[in-house]
Parts: sequence; structure tokens; C-alpha cells
Amino acid sequence: MTSAAHSPSRNPGQDTIIVLVGLMGAGKSCVGRRMAQRLDIPFIDADLEVEAAAGCSIVDIFEQYGEEAFRDGERRVIARLLDGPPSIIATGGGAFIDEQTRALIGEKALSVWLRADLDTLVSRTSGRSHRPLLNSSDPREILSALIDQRYPVYAEADVVVDTGSDNANVTCGRVIDALADHIPAVKTSPTSDAS
Ligand code: S3P
Repeated sequence: MTSAAHSPSRNPGQDTIIVLVGLMGAGKSCVGRRMAQRLDIPFIDADLEVEAAAGCSIVDIFEQYGEEAFRDGERRVIARLLDGPPSIIATGGGAFIDEQTRALIGEKALSVWLRADLDTLVSRTSGRSHRPLLNSSDPREILSALIDQRYPVYAEADVVVDTGSDNANVTCGRVIDALADHIPAVKTSPTSDAS
């Protein structure tokens, strides 16, 4: 007999907080919004929550208070979101790099790294000015350095999905497939399926 966890009608996100991680331009917000529609659970953009809590934009937070203050706010906001009901949370690219935040995500959510190559990240972030880290010098150089620094850490996510130049719908489908495979294994009590 098929267990509830393996039933094809079971919706993989409805009892879980799913956290999307990855570099700027990986498509976390776009893909997250589509996933939330498909899984019928709320979508939360952590960057927007940080801005709402601060009452100003991320660019202004960096300019007026510095990156450290932004990171403090981001850590607090994500901790609050992880105490909330099931949702899809798109995090800012630095969130999962923070050790405390990464540990909390590991405890309370299922993490998905949207892995993208440098060209994809450069093209998806070009012509936008709302990311302070990319405004100071050549974005390709900055993104390349961030790939070196951060990819080994994003690799700690529960699920890794390559995005490449695929559109958000394709990536969304791929993430949901990967989660449907993954969630029964991590969320089902090992004794419940014992035969
Ligand atoms: C950052 C990524 C941004 C935003 C902030 C810092 C980072 O979010 O949180 O500008 O450190 O990578 P996105 O990844 O959504 O662009």
C-alpha cells in the first residue's frame, strides 16, 4: 500500500517551510513565487521583509547603517520567518552564509540551492541598481569572487537544483520534482513505513 507521504496527490510543500538560497540573480524570488502558486502556500521575500522592518530600502540600509546592520536585521527577520507557518521563503544571497541563520534553516526548514553559472548571474543582475554589493565595481568580478566564497557553503543545502538559462517555470518544476523525492525521506518518521 502507498503511504501518505508517497501518495502522488500529496503536496510536497504544505507542511514544510522551504527556503531558497543562492547568489544574486539565481532566480530565488521568481522561482519562489511560482512554487508558492503551484503548491498553494504563501511566498515570502526575505529582502522585502528586511526592508519593511527597517522602513527603508536595502541600498539605504547599507548606505546609512552599513552592511553589518543589514546582516543583523536579516538574521532577525529570517529567524522570525522560520518560526512561522509553512511557506516558501526566498532569502537574500548572503543569508545562508551566516552560520547562525544556516543552522536555524537546517533545524526548521528544507533548503534548496538554486545554482547558476556566472554568465547567467551576470546577465540576470545587469542594469539593476538595487543590490549594493554589485554597485561598487565590476559586477562580473564581484559575482565571480562570491561564487568562489559562497558556493562551498550553499552546497550544504538539502537540495541542489541547477538553473542555468532556463526560465522560472522550468526551474520551478525541477525544484518541485526534487522536493517530492526528498521530503518523504526527511520528513517521514522512519518507523511509519516499516513493514
Ligand atoms: C545580497 C543579496 C541581495 C540582498 C543584499 C545582499 C548578498 O539579495 O540581500 O543586497 O549578500 O548576496 P538577492 O540575492 O535577492 O539579490
